[in-house]
Amino acid sequence: MKSFYADAIQNLKEKNLYRKLVEADVAYKDLISFASNDYFNLSQNAEVKKAARDAIKKYGVGSGGSRYISGNHSLYTKLEKQVARMKNCDDSIVFSSGYACSIGVIPALVSEGDLIVADRLIHSCLIDGAKLSGARMVRFLHNDVAHARRILEENRSKFKKCLIITETVFSMDGDLGEIDKLLELAEEFNAILVSDDAHGLFQNQPTPNSTQRSLHLQLGTLSKAIGTLGGYVAGEQSLIDYLRIFAKPVIYSTALPASILAASIASLKIIEKKDIGKKVLKNAEYFCELMKLPKPKTAIVPIILGDNERVVSIAAKLEELGFLISAIRPPTVEKNKARLRLTFSSKHKKNQIKKLAETLAKILRDS
Ligand SMILES: Cc1ncc(COP(=O)(O)O)c(C=O)c1O
Repeated sequence: MKSFYADAIQNLKEKNLYRKLVEADVAYKDLISFASNDYFNLSQNAEVKKAARDAIKKYGVGSGGSRYISGNHSLYTKLEKQVARMKNCDDSIVFSSGYACSIGVIPALVSEGDLIVADRLIHSCLIDGAKLSGARMVRFLHNDVAHARRILEENRSKFKKCLIITETVFSMDGDLGEIDKLLELAEEFNAILVSDDAHGLFQNQPTPNSTQRSLHLQLGTLSKAIGTLGGYVAGEQSLIDYLRIFAKPVIYSTALPASILAASIASLKIIEKKDIGKKVLKNAEYFCELMKLPKPKTAIVPIILGDNERVVSIAAKLEELGFLISAIRPPTVEKNKARLRLTFSSKHKKNQIKKLAETLAKILRDS
């Protein structure tokens, strides 16, 4: 049996799909990173670091228990209220990660005999949550609302409860999900929309009408634009009350440390006060202008090349020249859709972006 695993590794190596963990702090320390999801560089912010340090001094390092036993620090209440306010929702629950949130929330909402209608490109943690739930999952073509409608028309009456699942910002393509239109479908077909805003910038939340608002559960992470750690679900009060009791990671996993909760509160305060989102998008736009790429809608810019080997070799060349760029290959993206994935932050300087564009354009021409 052991040879199965060795053969699997060999097979991945032959296809250029083998992943190796790199000690990032050592290997990447001199590189300009266009591969981080820390969109506002808040993980390095002095106020955020101080909040974490102060909380460690006061409360120690670990939380010492799950939330229902002894780990439910009062900072959770403060953070959950803050997330709910910023998401324009009644209430929220904070989890240890976005992943834990997805695999907790989805199986709490649906099970065998229920239906999930999900965008073809949703993140792995949403797919895992859906699989874990035991509900029947049917996928619609990416952002194709008409296809989602056809699936609902054909299937909805055969199932009890129904979730529609999408993302607000698609993590590997950087395009936006069809939230408003899918909310209309949720209302029409008596379903709940679960949207994942993991790569959103926590700003400009639209205010849908109150019926649609009550059918919308917003998932996300505190580990990207917020620069700390954790996941959240925000929504209408009765749904959140239900999830607080039935989402298993709330019950069976150790609570986040107070330092992380305090850092998240400090970080969200900065986002709430300052309009820092524009700079991120401007940086992505500047790069796309230089590269003659379509105008980006988010901080994520994919350059789809298709060939696994080419993507890895270009990322390696860029690394030699001082830039860290992600080479994304299947199964993270579909077969023949390997790509360079660039992420822009408010920290990037214009001259760094210009240098990257010139360097990358030359490599692409020559390779
Ligand atoms: C779209 C999406 N959802 C959820 C997650 C998981 O969030 P976390 O890293 O906090 O577990 C990620 C990221 O890794 C993601 O890209």
